[in-house]
Amino acid sequence: MLRINDEAPNFTAETSQGTINFHEWIGTGWAILFSHPKDFTPVCTTELGYMAGLQPEFEKRNCKIIGLSVDPVSSHSKWAVDIEETQGHKVNYPMIGDPQLKVAKLYDMLPAEAGETCEGRTAVNNATVRTVFVVGPDKKIKLMLSYPMSTGRNFDEVLRVVDSMQPAGGFRRRGQTDFSWRLESTPALSTDRSPADAGVRKEG
Ligand code: BEZ
Repeated sequence: MLRINDEAPNFTAETSQGTINFHEWIGTGWAILFSHPKDFTPVCTTELGYMAGLQPEFEKRNCKIIGLSVDPVSSHSKWAVDIEETQGHKVNYPMIGDPQLKVAKLYDMLPAEAGETCEGRTAVNNATVRTVFVVGPDKKIKLMLSYPMSTGRNFDEVLRVVDSMQPAGGFRRRGQTDFSWRLESTPALSTDRSPADAGVRKEG
């Protein structure tokens, strides 16, 4: 079972942008890993398109984006064309192929007994593969958000959470952020973001 503050499990996987080692790919910044049960699922299509549009905002925060879907990379490439056509944003971030369910199991989104292939599996029996993980520069899990298949995930909220954890956001000025906190409501900070602001909070 994974919990907040656990190390995000490392893995090597094929993606739509080549093979990656997850921790090396994250590098020194932040990362969002968000998962999907199957390619061409309608709600997920909207989520991937919206994230493609939001990518510049995450980049400003030194935060990379990576998607995962329980299908091979060859299928992801076709889905990316569909996403651009229907959602109006080109997917420029990598999409992990997980046809053997390895990453889905590693991140506890599918049980060990789910088998070792996506063949014959449906979006419905993979429906638990709908989690957003925010990973910090220390490679620790900062947030986990699992959604039902009926409901699109709110990535503006994920952006808000990243803001709250970065030194330019909640931590530096306020220590903790309440339910209504937004970076925009802290005027002195909204214009002075620098790459250093996107680093990790120093304890003590
Ligand atoms: C979707 O539309 O994204 C979806 C459909 C079934 C299961 C999970 C997701």
